[in-house]
Amino acid sequence: MSEVVELRQRQAQFTKELHGDDIGSKSGFAAFVSKNRSAQKEAVEKYLKHWDGRTDKDAEERRLDDYNESTHSYYNVVTDFYEYGWGSSFHFSRFYKGENFFAAMARHEHYLAYQADIQKGDLVLDVGCGVGGPAREISRFTGCNIIGLNNNDYQLAKAKWYAKKYHLQDQLDFVKGDFMNMDFEPNTFDKVYAIEATCHAPSLEGVYSQIYKVLKPGGTFAVYEWVMTKNYDESNPAHRKIAYEIELGDGIPKMFSVDVAQEALKSAGFEVTVAQDLADSDDEVPWYYPLTGEWKYVQNLSDIGTFFRTSYLGRKFTTAMVSLLEKVGAAPEGSTKVTNALEEAAVGLVAGGKEKLFTPMMLFVAKKPVDAKE
Ligand SMILES: C[S@@+](CC[C@H](N)C(=O)[O-])C[C@H]1O[C@@H](n2cnc3c(N)ncnc32)[C@H](O)[C@@H]1O
Repeated sequence: MSEVVELRQRQAQFTKELHGDDIGSKSGFAAFVSKNRSAQKEAVEKYLKHWDGRTDKDAEERRLDDYNESTHSYYNVVTDFYEYGWGSSFHFSRFYKGENFFAAMARHEHYLAYQADIQKGDLVLDVGCGVGGPAREISRFTGCNIIGLNNNDYQLAKAKWYAKKYHLQDQLDFVKGDFMNMDFEPNTFDKVYAIEATCHAPSLEGVYSQIYKVLKPGGTFAVYEWVMTKNYDESNPAHRKIAYEIELGDGIPKMFSVDVAQEALKSAGFEVTVAQDLADSDDEVPWYYPLTGEWKYVQNLSDIGTFFRTSYLGRKFTTAMVSLLEKVGAAPEGSTKVTNALEEAAVGLVAGGKEKLFTPMMLFVAKKPVDAKE
């Protein structure tokens, strides 16, 4: 049996042990408290073992080498928290004044579909599809067919469950795979998009080359990339601390710079037609507002629940609850470590956003040349 097949079988088996067979019917807090205790402990250990505060080359190499298992474990333990706090699209967005949270999230997805020139009937690949929130929205919005690729079995099972629930199973499919080593035939997809997912790659050139391979000649790839901006200085300890908090709390082996990302696209063979940091704008309501706890940004009444859960106060409340539940044995061991890591991420994301050292929405649109060989 090949190593890849063996890894997939092991991860699928582990997902069953951890989350049980009935994936989908429970989400958020209800799903979180019903995990298998020893499997949850193992998943937390696998995720956190590489984050020991070190940022030297050896430590980075370890995290880069173990990207697949490490990210798989990360999403095994955070998916319920994400769904509880954020909904079923796991990304940031810009906000218009007065616009509610979920409308802004959908608009951010529509904008990427527009930039990728997705048309009715196109076959589209969603790289790192989460639980399928964006794929459901984009397939409805454009009338295209989407295959979501993901290496996390728990999220895949949820994505399939939601597709069925919303009667989208004819337009959507979700498949297991590592975006560093895709199984699709070359030149398969009309368009490809990725939303805040390829930052988990150990090499951006690696993942972009795979996308280039499976995209048809003349096709478009559009991505919201997580990168450190030109203001970031890796040798500045305060900057590196912010990047490390984002890496630790978001399960990212290494945050790369915007220049590395753009060069990686070119090296993969793409012609880059758009390179724009959407966070570098004069928006009155910044993209990181849901994490700040600053009530002045709340847009309308319907946002209060989401805002409370994701705000500083709401996160402290969740951590205290989780810690209490863990102490009395109602939540799996290690759960508080996870909420603490998510807290570090939130602190790093807000600091990175405020200082414009980091963006979660570096928009790249890239074309595969019409006369490309592969
Ligand atoms: C922040 S989530 C974004 C999910 C989705 N794009 C969305 O916006 O809702 C990152 C996603 O990338 C997936 N991912 C990370 N590493 C991967 C890999 N090596 N191969 C495939 N998917 C991966 C994760 O499992 C997760 O679904």
